[in-house]
Amino acid sequence: MVASVQASTPRSSDTPRTVVSIKDLSISYAEKAALRNATLDVREHEIFGIIGPAGSGKTSFLKALNRMNLFDASMSISGSIEFLGHDIQRWRNVYALRKRMGVVFPLPVGLPLSIYENVALAPRLRGIKKKADLNVIVERCLQRAALWDEVKDRLDSLGSLLSGGQQQRLTIARALSQDPVLLMLDEFSIAVDPVTTMRIEDVLKELKQEMTIIMVTNLVQQARRLADRTAFFLNGSCVEIGETESLFNGEVQDSRTRDYIEGRFG
Ligand SMILES: Nc1ncnc2c1ncn2[C@@H]1O[C@H](COP(=O)(O)OP(=O)(O)OP(=O)(O)O)[C@@H](O)[C@H]1O
Ligand SMILES: [Mg+2]
Repeated sequence: MVASVQASTPRSSDTPRTVVSIKDLSISYAEKAALRNATLDVREHEIFGIIGPAGSGKTSFLKALNRMNLFDASMSISGSIEFLGHDIQRWRNVYALRKRMGVVFPLPVGLPLSIYENVALAPRLRGIKKKADLNVIVERCLQRAALWDEVKDRLDSLGSLLSGGQQQRLTIARALSQDPVLLMLDEFSIAVDPVTTMRIEDVLKELKQEMTIIMVTNLVQQARRLADRTAFFLNGSCVEIGETESLFNGEVQDSRTRDYIEGRFG
């Protein structure tokens, strides 16, 4: 059982805290490997980008962090995943773990609720009952997701009536309402227009002051714009991890990373 998770990881003042530490992570579905022996750390307040072609294991990696294998009997995981210094298997329960990790999937997953209730649900479930307190949280989350101005006059209408790009921002607002330490996004802009994509990118740059972000993207230029460090996944292997700017300047250890970044395949 995890007691005080936030105070638990020792660090000196100039070393960023490690939020996620992965060692030798392998993931398979039935007998088929999706990811093999990945080892990496994600640091506090960074945007950690993951790029790679279709089927390289990016989504499986996020699923393993979020313990989604609990709901997929064919998915098996070996190796270790520590979140805030604790093995994720040892968290009190999966819901306590997920409260600290917000996940945004490629397509908006709205709850069949009003805009307000989409965002108020998680705070309500953790015991916040006063309408005034909920109002503050809802406004703040919608502001941080750059959606408030567009919806403040229709908070009671169904979230599903918003445009695709607005629904994706509502999904982000809902993820933020859990007050996560880690926000994971899986190809968030796949169904979002370029203007909304840019707005969300601006939101992420702001949010990293407050939390850590893992961003899976199939747009290499999006990784370049946003990620502090980037990992390149290929065919179920984490080929390389580096400072994003260095990788894009051609300072790679594996020529396949350069080929992918330069658009020669994928
Ligand atoms: N639920 C599942 N059952 C069986 N195989 C799966 C399942 N999910 C993923 N896979 C397989 O695992 C491998 C990695 O898939 P994953 O979804 O992690 O890739 P990805 O990098 O996210 O790809 P994309 O860019 O297309 O989203 C693929 O070969 C995929 O077919
Ligand atoms: Mg994927």
